[in-house]
Amino acid sequence: MNPIPWWASEALWKKAAIWVTGVMFAVLIFLTFDTVNQITAGSQRVPAYSAINQRVYYRFDRERGYQVPVLGDEAPLFGQLLDEDEAEALVTHGKLTVQAKNCMNCHTLLGNGAYFAPDLTKSWLDPAWVDESVREQLMVEFLMDPVANARTFGSDRRMPHLGISEDESRAVVAFLKWMSSIDTNGFPAGFPVIRQAGDP
Ligand code: HEC
Repeated sequence: MNPIPWWASEALWKKAAIWVTGVMFAVLIFLTFDTVNQITAGSQRVPAYSAINQRVYYRFDRERGYQVPVLGDEAPLFGQLLDEDEAEALVTHGKLTVQAKNCMNCHTLLGNGAYFAPDLTKSWLDPAWVDESVREQLMVEFLMDPVANARTFGSDRRMPHLGISEDESRAVVAFLKWMSSIDTNGFPAGFPVIRQAGDP
């Protein structure tokens, strides 16, 4: 009988299985820490919460081939300049409201969630908010009473009244403004944006 060739030996494949599992485990741990770094506010792609003090643009980047958020001049949300801690508290309040009211049941955030309603990643920049001078007010009013202020965009889909207070609504707007400043590798692609001072 022919001897079993080396590449078919059982011992080799047992060792290979152990090594591959071991190496992939190490890779997984490395990627976990790397990802946590990349998604922390104040890192390269995810701006600090105080980004809500600045104008957020979404401009085409020729080198990368898609639109990227660019922070501009000072443009404090609701006219109030916040320090990093205050901004973090406000954005966090907004994020917790978004979680408590389960917005992802209908919307996607950063592409995660349901597809009944528009993605909210760049909703701060949606031209539907007319222009900068009224955007904040329109968003706050829409969130507090989406039935009376329904826009529907011809889809006939309606956002229900979710019982959001004014404080919660303002915090959600802060969260949405901050989220629009996150570099998402061009997601969502080809998103048309509201006109803002400083546009080319
Ligand atoms: C039951 C489904 C549903 C839930 C839950 C829901 N929405 Fe909506 N939302 C919609 C629909 C449908 C629209 C589009 C209709 C409209 O604009 O009148 C919409 C529109 C929006 C818009 C306007 C989007 C844009 O870019 O113009 C924002 C902002 C928004 N929702 C935020 C939220 C937030 C924040 C929550 C959670 C607090 C939430 N929605 C929960 C269905 C939902």
